[in-house]
Amino acid sequence: MQARTPEDSKTTLTDLVLPSETNPLNNLFGGELLARMDRAASIAARRHSRRIVVTASVNHVAFNKAVPLGSVVTVEAKVSRAFKSSMEIYMDVWVEDRESGERSKANEAIYTFVAVDETGTPVAIPPLEPETELEKKRYEAALRRKQLSLVLAGKMKPSEATELKALFVNS
Ligand SMILES: CC(C)(COP(=O)(O)OP(=O)(O)OC[C@H]1O[C@@H](n2cnc3c(N)ncnc32)[C@H](O)[C@@H]1OP(=O)(O)O)[C@@H](O)C(=O)NCCC(=O)NCCS
Repeated sequence: MQARTPEDSKTTLTDLVLPSETNPLNNLFGGELLARMDRAASIAARRHSRRIVVTASVNHVAFNKAVPLGSVVTVEAKVSRAFKSSMEIYMDVWVEDRESGERSKANEAIYTFVAVDETGTPVAIPPLEPETELEKKRYEAALRRKQLSLVLAGKMKPSEATELKALFVNS
């Protein structure tokens, strides 16, 4: 299968924060942002694999900044590493200043998607070739995150998580 780049899967989802999507402090609900990120990540995973994709895991979410009512929010998703049937999707969330139009980073998240056939069975996907320095950094760290996710899900023994062990031994 021919390799694809993170840019091939890049997905940008821009939308407003409406009153029905906010909490009593008039900031965006965390769950609403998770849903927007799930949609963006699913499109990125589909663009990379060109298959049916399902969310396997939400590996990391950091709600660093509140997003106020009326904000213009952009979720940018790219595949950061492809394994056999699973893909890590890295997302950056930006909020746009109304007056200056400048974007500031509000949040980031990492999801795992799996490509499946019509029966829901995992299928092989193309490899990923990172291009930029940031893409290479995210690619390198993705195996460690996959092992952590599998250990936490009870699908891998800690003793088999070689990348995690290396992290603790070398730090
Ligand atoms: C995701 C799913 C297809 C995985 O099926 P499975 O029987 O565990 O299949 P496998 O063990 O062969 O795993 C398939 C791949 O997913 C990866 N995977 C499974 N669970 C994972 C987890 N928690 N974190 C990271 N990767 C995971 C495996 O490592 C494997 O990756 P690889 O093929 O790239 O090496 C299956 O659990 C599923 O269909 N879940 C429901 C998905 C869904 O409905 N999502 C929406 C939630 S409402």
